[in-house]
Amino acid sequence: MTGMEAERFTLRDARPEDDPAIAALVIDGFLDKFRPVFGRGMEESVRIMERWVSLEHFSGGVQSFVVEGCEAGEVVASVGVRVSPADDEVMARGLWRALSRNLGFLRAMWATTLLSYPRYSARSSEAYVERLVVAPGFRNQGMARSLLAAAEDLARQKEKRTVGLHVSGNNIPALKLYEDEGYVEVSRQRSLLTARFLKIRDWIYLRKDLSPSVRKEAPL
Ligand SMILES: CC(C)(COP(=O)(O)OP(=O)(O)OC[C@H]1O[C@@H](n2cnc3c(N)ncnc32)[C@H](O)[C@@H]1OP(=O)(O)O)[C@@H](O)C(=O)NCCC(=O)NCCS
Repeated sequence: MTGMEAERFTLRDARPEDDPAIAALVIDGFLDKFRPVFGRGMEESVRIMERWVSLEHFSGGVQSFVVEGCEAGEVVASVGVRVSPADDEVMARGLWRALSRNLGFLRAMWATTLLSYPRYSARSSEAYVERLVVAPGFRNQGMARSLLAAAEDLARQKEKRTVGLHVSGNNIPALKLYEDEGYVEVSRQRSLLTARFLKIRDWIYLRKDLSPSVRKEAPL
């Protein structure tokens, strides 16, 4: 990282030992989404999410960034970026095992149904940004913007042409950030199921073309 942000907080690549902290942040940041999916048991939710995050890192082609807090090992913000192909078999099997162990068969079926939104088909020319989250006490300091910039830098390094992501239609802060950063709506999915159970009716798919920034950075 360069510039002002780097002086105010430390943004770095996530390490395997950060997985539990990332999982806790994600559960906390998306509580309204995960509570109806995983039920009220917070411990179960965190265990499932820890497994999910580590599966993403080992088999999902995802790299994460974190922002450190003041205390050693404290992680206050994070984002994941899918830059390589995922091993879908391993991911699906691992996630199902974590869900069924912690929730039992029926609730695991239900969770799988809700978690199938938004649907996304990976493209090799695209980096996919997911689970961008900042701990409530650390918001409005530019951390999300910096994490998004780090994700885009990684995408450029990996020679991706676009960055894609999904955002729920009612997430105004995130929509504003993405719009500000040059993301444009490509399509939207509407789900009666998630409208009813997650209070999310629209899942908006946004994309940013990386080439203009590359041109901007080139000398003369
Ligand atoms: C969305 C989220 C990541 C923003 O994090 P943040 O660190 O507070 O964001 P930043 O300080 O980097 O703000 C960047 C821009 O986002 C927008 N923004 C952030 N919070 C906002 C709010 N409460 N209302 C409106 N716009 C907001 C603004 O455009 C802001 O730019 P500005 O400060 O120049 O006005 C954070 O609110 C969060 O973790 N929410 C829960 C998880 C989530 O919804 N993640 C997005 C998934 S798609």
